[in-house]
Amino acid sequence: NELYAQGLTGHQPQYPVRFADLEEKASAAMTPKVWEYVAGGAGDEHTQRANCEVFKRWGLYPRMLVAPTERDMSIELFGVKLPSPVFMAPIGVIGVCAQDGHGDLACARASVRTGVPFFEGTLSADPLEDVAAVLGDTPGYFQLYTPPDRDMAASLVHRAEAAGFQGIAVTLDTWVTGWRPRDLRGSNYPQVPSGCLSNYTSDPVFRRKLQPGEDATEVAVRTLPIFGGPFRWDDLDWLRPQTELPLMLKGICHPDDVRRAKDHGADAIYCSNHGGRQANGGLTALECLPDVLDAADGLPVLFDSGVRSGADIIKALALGATAVGIGRPYAYALAVGGVDGVVHVLRSLLAEADLIMAVDGYPTRKDLTPEALRFVG
Ligand code: FNR
Repeated sequence: NELYAQGLTGHQPQYPVRFADLEEKASAAMTPKVWEYVAGGAGDEHTQRANCEVFKRWGLYPRMLVAPTERDMSIELFGVKLPSPVFMAPIGVIGVCAQDGHGDLACARASVRTGVPFFEGTLSADPLEDVAAVLGDTPGYFQLYTPPDRDMAASLVHRAEAAGFQGIAVTLDTWVTGWRPRDLRGSNYPQVPSGCLSNYTSDPVFRRKLQPGEDATEVAVRTLPIFGGPFRWDDLDWLRPQTELPLMLKGICHPDDVRRAKDHGADAIYCSNHGGRQANGGLTALECLPDVLDAADGLPVLFDSGVRSGADIIKALALGATAVGIGRPYAYALAVGGVDGVVHVLRSLLAEADLIMAVDGYPTRKDLTPEALRFVG
């Protein structure tokens, strides 16, 4: 309504509303190298595209004579009420999407303005403590790439807890980098900017091991597996007691892994295929969601990969996701319009979702159930 009212007074929207327009503007706003890194995925990017297309295979039934003038999208996660079911998925190198390189701080500001939680990545341009300071009381979560050095892994977790993050998402699907042809073109190599290692280079355990005169970034690049190391069930058993914070396992898509994760003390499943960046040829994350939910049996299930519209958010919620993550859209928005751009894109997604709930007669999140959907093949 706000947008239409502005339109009547001749106001032009400053930032794109359609995802395709946002994508086009972002490709112009980013350097080619950053654009290819952010927009690209694994293999011929079939899974990445399918992540988006699969949403069209579900349709939402409209329900009339409900006309909910008041809607409530709020949810509860780990006992905390959140104003909407949407969050910003962790994008480690989000720093490079901001004109000033401080993308993590910009997203934290957008999070404060919208109440949409931000997942601060391990691969951050600014140390997690600085991001937490910007977030203040707004709930945020920390994404962990787990260094094989357990002292250092524990240190990252303890720092996140001390800084006030409200949960840890351990990313499981990136201990080796995916086969990403766009990044393997000579000009686009190497892929990870050294400016995104601040959480490693500021870490007290890491710094203790530095020899006098050594350059922290250079040592980090040379000695650390940037995306963490291999992480297995026994590593999870070690990690679990390191923190009181809720532990989310990101990248789980198979129901047997969900059941096992529950047995090993996970507090939430984060169903995702990393936006199709890691392995091509796999199932879309949305196709995995129903079985994941079934196996989770009441444990919260966060979801991302392929969400591009308010309609997509509604469908993931109706299938049963507890909360829905946005990836590339907010990275593009950051490149196009900084903090305001991110706020605009998040608010647009939420506005579309809210209007669908209004038009189609679903007043609250609880009314969005699998019965609201029909699979149209
Ligand atoms: C990511 N993602 C990601 N995930 C994670 O756990 N740690 C990370 O450091 C990153 N880094 C990252 C960089 C870039 C450029 C992108 C696009 C994505 C994955 C992210 O959290 C999320 O799973 C996907 O982005 C969701 O898919 P869509 O919305 O981009 O399709």
